[in-house]
Formats: sequence, structure tokens, C-alpha cells
Amino acid sequence: MFKSKKKTSVLFVCLGNICRSPTAEAVFRHKAKAAGLDLKIDSAGTHGYHIGKQPDGRSVSVGVQRGYSFKGIKCRRVEDKDFTDFDYIMAMDTSNYENLMKVSPEEELHRIHYFLDFAPGDEKEVPDPYYGGKQGFELVLDLIEQASDGFIRHLKQQKPAG
Ligand code: 4NP
Repeated sequence: MFKSKKKTSVLFVCLGNICRSPTAEAVFRHKAKAAGLDLKIDSAGTHGYHIGKQPDGRSVSVGVQRGYSFKGIKCRRVEDKDFTDFDYIMAMDTSNYENLMKVSPEEELHRIHYFLDFAPGDEKEVPDPYYGGKQGFELVLDLIEQASDGFIRHLKQQKPAG
């Protein structure tokens, strides 16, 4: 009998889990599927302001225009078990990154990354669009699309285990 290998898993994290990280979940799920990658993909927030809610209507509106689906995405908070359940924990900005680094068990810190480290350029921050206009939501999508493409290239370069 072959032991089935656990799927590679990715958790996207922002502050509220209603704008940036659900957008990353929707975009990356779409692009990973198109690239033929079978992954476990989820998102969560470092704070619990909107638990149980669907993604922000403005994120959904600009995302759907570009062909992404937000179906089934529901806001949740980061939990202790995320630090062992997910291979990659992708922070959207420095504040998310630092919050994650503070609460992660020491031995799991290597799982935490800036998502934009997989995009071209030196920018690390996906700016919080919550209090701004539509342009901010479009910029979030632009950055997340670039990082998703880069991360897919990274995953495809990984040597298969075994
Ligand atoms: P997100 O945006 O972190 O991209 O989901 C925010 C959503 C809600 C709030 C802040 C940022 N809030 O203050 O309620």
C-alpha cells in the first residue's frame, strides 16, 4: 500500500478576513486549479471583528469582474491549530506578519511568510482597502494576482517528496 501524501496547504491571513485574505483565497484557488495544483487553501483574520460574515461586497464586486468566485468563503479567526495544519501561512502586511510571529509556536515560525515575497519587486504590504475607495480594492487584486503567479511558480519548482 502506498501512503497517500498530505496535500500542500496554504492559509492567507489579513486583519479582518473580509477583504484581502478572502480575495487571496479566491484568486489563488482559481489560479492553482488552472495550473493543475491540488492544494488545501483557506483564509483567516488575526482579529475577530467579522466572524461568520461573507467577504466585503466591494472585494467580491471587483473580484467577480475579473472572474474569481468567493462562493463558500466565510470569515474566521486564526486558530492555534492553523500553525500545524498549514504548510504556508501568508501574511498580507507587516502588522499581520508580526501578529502571526507573536502567537505562533517557536518551532512553526518557518511557515509564516509575506505573500508579496512571491511577487516581483520589493513591496511587502498589500494595503488595507477597508476605509478607501474602489481603486484600493483593484490594487489589492493586482498585487494578489502577481503574488499568486509567483507562488505557483515556486510550488512547481519544489521537488516532489519521496
Ligand atoms: P482586511 O480589511 O483585513 O483586508 O479584511 C479590514 C476589514 C475590516 C476592518 C479592517 C480591515 N475593520 O476594522 O473592521
